[in-house]
Amino acid sequence: MAEQSSTVANPPAASIWERLYELATDNRVVRSIVRHGFPDTNRNRSLTVFTNFFLHIHPVKVRTEAIKFTRTYYLGGLSAVTFLILSVTGVLLMFYYHPSVPRAYQDMKDLEFVVSAGVFLRNLHRWSAHAMVALVFLHMVRVFFAGAYRPPREFNWVIGIFLFLMTILLSYTGYLLPWDQLAYWAVTVGTNMARSVPVMGDEISFLLLGGHQIDENTLVRFYVLHCVFLPLLVVGGVAIHIWRVRKDGGIYIPPEERRHTVRCYETSGEELQS
Ligand code: HEM
Repeated sequence: MAEQSSTVANPPAASIWERLYELATDNRVVRSIVRHGFPDTNRNRSLTVFTNFFLHIHPVKVRTEAIKFTRTYYLGGLSAVTFLILSVTGVLLMFYYHPSVPRAYQDMKDLEFVVSAGVFLRNLHRWSAHAMVALVFLHMVRVFFAGAYRPPREFNWVIGIFLFLMTILLSYTGYLLPWDQLAYWAVTVGTNMARSVPVMGDEISFLLLGGHQIDENTLVRFYVLHCVFLPLLVVGGVAIHIWRVRKDGGIYIPPEERRHTVRCYETSGEELQS
């Protein structure tokens, strides 16, 4: 009997790869950064999303109905993508452009005829700007017809209106920068409209132009608004906007279309009860 109990089998020895894997993943440094196990259970998947700086932007659970293309037509996301393209191409354009009366128009011509791929860069910026105005407007129409502006999403609707105004102002301020005839007269029309505002029209126009007529002051003012001030407001606004979508329970789904299934992870194939 004594002989039998001493022959109980030991667990099989770990292979060299298993030991190396354990050494690489189960040490003090890694544990101080990654504080959960491998994401193969719903708990660990949730912890992966919660504790990762980049992933925590995403919700842990998403309704399958919310990610259907026809629910949003991805219009909000596409608006954000066009803004990203505009930011990158805008910064590249800033390398070639001087906001001064003798240089501005000349710089645009140089972009067209001298700078390599300058026409492409300028047109990418211009067409993305047109696309962003259209996409933001269509996104607004989609949200309106889905009734997604109703409580608890009213605040996000208001932030959306702010973003829409910022998008229009970005287009308007960018219009002057080429300093050609089209730019000059378009801004003349715009500031004359501002001047016709009752009571404080003259003050608004003075503030926009940096004086009583369109000149170098106006160009510098529009340049700063276009390249720094308004983009920063849009970045802040979009951050709050998308955070609010999360906090308001994700994309609006009409009650009659709400099923109880939610998707946890594309790869898991599991379904949770909401
Ligand atoms: C820079 C402009 C904008 C960006 C980047 C943006 C981005 C987004 C994104 C990514 C979403 C979630 C997905 C989607 O619905 O497509 C969303 C939802 C929403 N947006 Fe916008 N948006 C912008 C402008 C607007 C405007 C102009 C409005 C309305 C005035 C608006 C109102 C809303 C509302 C109420 C939701 C929640 C919709 C729902 O729950 O179904 N957004 N936005």
